[in-house]
Amino acid sequence: MVDERREAAETPAELARALEAVSERRFQFAHPAEAEFAAFLDFYRIKWEYEPKSFPLRWRDGRIAEMFTPDFYLPEQDLYVELTTMKQSLVTRKNRKVRRLRELYPHINIVLLYRKDYHELLSRFGYGSVDITSLRPDQIERILLSPAEIQARVAELGRQISEDYAGTSLILVGVLKGITFFLADLARAITRPLAIDYLQLSHELDEGVRISKDLDLDIRGRHVLLVEDIVNTGMTMDFVLRTLRQREPASLEVCALLDKAERRLVPVPVKYVGFTIPNEFVVGYGLDYRQLYRNLPFICVLRKEVYEANGNGPLLKRPVELASAGHA
Ligand code: IMP
Ligand code: MG
Repeated sequence: MVDERREAAETPAELARALEAVSERRFQFAHPAEAEFAAFLDFYRIKWEYEPKSFPLRWRDGRIAEMFTPDFYLPEQDLYVELTTMKQSLVTRKNRKVRRLRELYPHINIVLLYRKDYHELLSRFGYGSVDITSLRPDQIERILLSPAEIQARVAELGRQISEDYAGTSLILVGVLKGITFFLADLARAITRPLAIDYLQLSHELDEGVRISKDLDLDIRGRHVLLVEDIVNTGMTMDFVLRTLRQREPASLEVCALLDKAERRLVPVPVKYVGFTIPNEFVVGYGLDYRQLYRNLPFICVLRKEVYEANGNGPLLKRPVELASAGHA
């Protein structure tokens, strides 16, 4: 594929100017709809490049006679996006160009996208359950980690753990319930023989933390990897580690998806950390607020109003059942 702007450059000075123009253009959108789409992508933490490549579509006398430069490229999805309006004359022309591009470059993925279809893209990119918990985009303060970012990091953790446990098997111990999705994904990214077991804790005001559901497996002499969703003060983790150590495993390490390092009160040895995050309350990908929002495919900070509303109940269909359990 030939880049139109580079093709035109004859001398080093021209080349330099052309490259400068490209980098300037990056944030100079030709159309307000493009700026809007870029903002939409940024909000959902979907990586994008603006017009990174031009595809020659027709040649005359050995020279390029027609080019097509799709508006966006989304590297994580390997997808080109051409934005379009409802104006029929434009749509027809663009459709023709897209068809021609697909014929000439069959390995290129491209979609022609109407404004009303932006949200449909999300379901293709793993954001499918965004409205399952009656959460509107305007109730989300900030998305901290996108599904693509989470999956990429989980795959890395899996590779690293597989290397470290080469030639041996291990037991993954998850603390319910926040661990549900992370453990399922991590286990499938680890290429060693492994068993999975769960612990559940209850936090009682007068008794402190205690185990409300114990492990089924005997961990004595086994390599144990404790998997946690988030380490905050470290109190929970410290309690679990002390309990497990008494059972004399061959080794005991910790893998936490999220680490709120600045909140730490008790030092705990976390060997594998997915992401270090700032001191904000987060939900999604297993993490809850009053048992809600675990099924969000991303990890986000919610607007203050959502927590206030939950206190009063309007977002909860059955506030008593859902709110009584607290979060674990
Ligand atoms: P720690 O004992 O203070 O380290 O707290 C750990 C537990 O608190 C985690 O296992 C979570 O269940 C919960 N937790 C801490 N921070 C968050 C958060 O931002 N969102 C959801 N749950 C959290
Ligand atoms: Mg937890």
